[in-house]
Amino acid sequence: MESLQTTSSFLSLNALFDNPLFAGGIGLASLGAAAAFARKGAIVALGAVRRRLLVNVEISKQDPAYPWILAWLSQPREHPGYIASRITRIHNLSVTTTTTNTRGHGTSGPVNASFFLQPGYGRHIVKFGNAYISVNREKHSTANMNTGEPHEIVQLTTLWAYRHAFEGIFAEAHKLAAKANEGKTTVYSARGMEWAPLGDSRKKRPIGSVILDEGVKESIVADVNDFLSRHQWYVDRGIPYRRGYLLFGPPGSGKSSFIQALAGELDFGVAMINLSEMGMTDDKLAYLLTKLPKRCLLLLEDADAAFANRRQRDVDGYSGANVTFSGLLNALDGVAAGEERIAFLTTNHIDRLDPALIRPGRVDMMLRIGEATKYQAAEMWDRFYGDKDEEGMGKERFLRRLEELGLFGTNQDGTPSNRHTSTAAIQGLFLFNKIDMQGAIDMAEGLIPRTFEASDDVTLGEKHTKLRS
Ligand SMILES: Nc1ncnc2c1ncn2[C@@H]1O[C@H](COP(=O)(O)OP(=O)(O)OP(=O)(O)O)[C@@H](O)[C@H]1O
Ligand SMILES: [Mg+2]
Repeated sequence: MESLQTTSSFLSLNALFDNPLFAGGIGLASLGAAAAFARKGAIVALGAVRRRLLVNVEISKQDPAYPWILAWLSQPREHPGYIASRITRIHNLSVTTTTTNTRGHGTSGPVNASFFLQPGYGRHIVKFGNAYISVNREKHSTANMNTGEPHEIVQLTTLWAYRHAFEGIFAEAHKLAAKANEGKTTVYSARGMEWAPLGDSRKKRPIGSVILDEGVKESIVADVNDFLSRHQWYVDRGIPYRRGYLLFGPPGSGKSSFIQALAGELDFGVAMINLSEMGMTDDKLAYLLTKLPKRCLLLLEDADAAFANRRQRDVDGYSGANVTFSGLLNALDGVAAGEERIAFLTTNHIDRLDPALIRPGRVDMMLRIGEATKYQAAEMWDRFYGDKDEEGMGKERFLRRLEELGLFGTNQDGTPSNRHTSTAAIQGLFLFNKIDMQGAIDMAEGLIPRTFEASDDVTLGEKHTKLRS
């Protein structure tokens, strides 16, 4: 009975296949499935072939090489062949404009503009040696949490056989970037939790243009050079390769200028943090110090801010810096502190610093960059008027005038005058009288700091207005 039933169900299945409509449907369906399968197979095979035959390099915007590669891509290239030049034409460009105002006195608005064209978003093809490289520049929809900038990548693809072209490309791009930055100092500042170049790299300041008191500059330069030559010595002894300098003194004595010039001299950049900056916290400071850009002097301006943050809130609710004393000490040499570093700290208020900061490992060398001395005034005169005042007569008169005014700390009769001036003020005076030596001598009275002017504030006030106008 059971076997009979089975036979009959087979019979009905056969009948179904005998139905031309049904059989046709099945046929079509299997054709479709086969086609879909073949398509998928082809995609997989193509992917496999791509993976085996092509090489991909992805550079994200966060990587320092990103701008170099973009600059390299924008290089004009000579293409020997007609076809090559057609293939590698870039149709999609983006532009970066820089303007410089060189029109001088009394005019405004940008005059010189330079346009820097680089490949825009999308796909392009470039040729490097014999290799064709496909370039894909993409902007992602996600953004960097710190800066709000969208993520970007550049992807370079070429045939496996030409993979060594990448080494050549990166070397060339790096050389190009190095050449563009030759003679320049890059200043980095903290943007969010990251270091970013602060504007364009600026021309190196010659170290000779910063005039410190006799021997001061030389002693720092010698110490830094000695430190730089002893890397292996530190490694061999397992000591963190760090050195700290503290420059203190009144405003306008050349502390920041000297550090910038020193960075130029050493071919270093400057990574700058202002400790009194709004939003700078202990965590942020510690994190930034572990991620210092390479070959940079760390510059911590206003080091006293970390010690003076108990002041009252301003009207805007800002209660001073959030960096605390212990936060600064930990960032400088806590367990998480960076292993390699040259740090410069500056302050106008040495009296506010804690002795704990000034111990080897945190600050190894402390120097006062003080008020202008006679030596500095003389050197600055030579830099400004040296070519006109060959005999040195003008310089002598200028120095005598400053002595008369008691600006070097003593009166002419040898008693203390308690009066000093800053190198920044002398520079201001010389800048005002660029080609007029006598004018500089006549206006020397304006170098007297304003705090000493309480009694005769009218006449000196006029001088000041004159100086500044
Ligand atoms: N010793 C110096 N030699 C040459 N230029 C100087 C010197 N001191 C100051 N200047 C000039 O004065 C200006 C201010 O100098 P700078 O910013 O370096 O002073 P600073 O000591 O860092 O002051 P602050 O303590 O207020 O930060 C700059 O333009 C700089 O060129
Ligand atoms: Mg400064």
